[in-house]
Amino acid sequence: MMLARSLIRFPKHTIDNPRFISRFIMPATNGTAPPASKKAKVCQPDLRSVTSAASPDAMANMWEDNTTTTATGLKVADEKVLYSGFDGVQTEFCPYDVTSKTYDNTRSPLGLNIVFGSLALNGKPLPSQKVLDVGCGTGTFIAKIQHKVQEVVGLEYNDGMLAQARELLGETVKLVQGSAASLPFEDQSFDGVVINQVVHHFPQDNDYAFLKGFLAEAFRVLRPGGHLIISTSAPEQQRDSFWWLSLFPKASEAICSRFPPIAVMTDSMRSVGFQVDADSIAVPLHRTLMSEEKYLAQGVESAFSAEYRAGDSSWSMAENSGELQEGLSSLKEKLNAGTADVFLQEREALRLSKGQATFVTATKKNLGGGSVSGC
Ligand SMILES: C[S@@+](CC[C@H](N)C(=O)[O-])C[C@H]1O[C@@H](n2cnc3c(N)ncnc32)[C@H](O)[C@@H]1O
Repeated sequence: MMLARSLIRFPKHTIDNPRFISRFIMPATNGTAPPASKKAKVCQPDLRSVTSAASPDAMANMWEDNTTTTATGLKVADEKVLYSGFDGVQTEFCPYDVTSKTYDNTRSPLGLNIVFGSLALNGKPLPSQKVLDVGCGTGTFIAKIQHKVQEVVGLEYNDGMLAQARELLGETVKLVQGSAASLPFEDQSFDGVVINQVVHHFPQDNDYAFLKGFLAEAFRVLRPGGHLIISTSAPEQQRDSFWWLSLFPKASEAICSRFPPIAVMTDSMRSVGFQVDADSIAVPLHRTLMSEEKYLAQGVESAFSAEYRAGDSSWSMAENSGELQEGLSSLKEKLNAGTADVFLQEREALRLSKGQATFVTATKKNLGGGSVSGC
């Protein structure tokens, strides 16, 4: 009865969403965490705080109950919705088992020029290099580089993403399920490691211990002279360069805090032995993470499409924080009042001044006196 009442409050498209069903219709867990399964076929949200009768308002309140101050001093609401990974660990805020199916409808690889430019600084010719793509997602980046290098291997955490990558790439590319925390590869076995838009999925606690663990792993698997190329966003790029995020203030704070500041990134890289200099940082001002045709094709109307929202994980954060419906209503009001175009223009001006992505390249210096990179 309670459940039926809560269902009536949601619009049809929300109720049809499998994420909604798992969040609001699955049985409550009486305050205990679901058991950690060794190999979860479908990622399950952590329902410790979310019962079958929870409403968006209740979820929003739960976000306000507890706050944490991050290592960089930002106060953020604690996240309450986390999904289990294949290893039973619950850190993922994004339901990639669902969104992986339509992810490529909006996204397209960016920064190929930056990645190839960095790899070319390695003393080894590009066609004889072996490259690892960590968090390869649906495999589209691998598809773009596989014929230009000797071999590219993909490591991916999520079942759904991995399945999409296998479908795209077939058996010609080695794909491994695993976590960036512990790379299942031999020491010095790659000439390049790339990781595109993944580090914001890492836990941030203990002063970015997970990120530093990954950086140490990347250093270990790289050959001397090799490069690690990280595509991420600075927190302020995340806040200002995605037009929809100002509609969701709590989600905006939460997602910004998940992106390590660039200084944290470069300091952490140096702390594990990488060399970083002024050439290491590149910001493409014009490219969007989504494909350019899709990003603004429908203007702000795209916000009402679940497929569009599957193309960026900040939308999941808005849903997790209970702000999605309210933010969409405020957008509808702007459309009705004729102010949506001005809103979008102002947000887009900010994006073009900051860009959405930052590439940080680090070099494992060749101490042996052989061929070294340009850094
Ligand atoms: C925004 S998607 C980016 C996918 C792909 N790199 C791209 O640029 O299209 C983030 C990806 O990181 C993966 N991921 C998250 N945490 C991870 C971890 N600890 N180790 C490996 N991959 C992870 C997710 O499963 C997801 O596929």
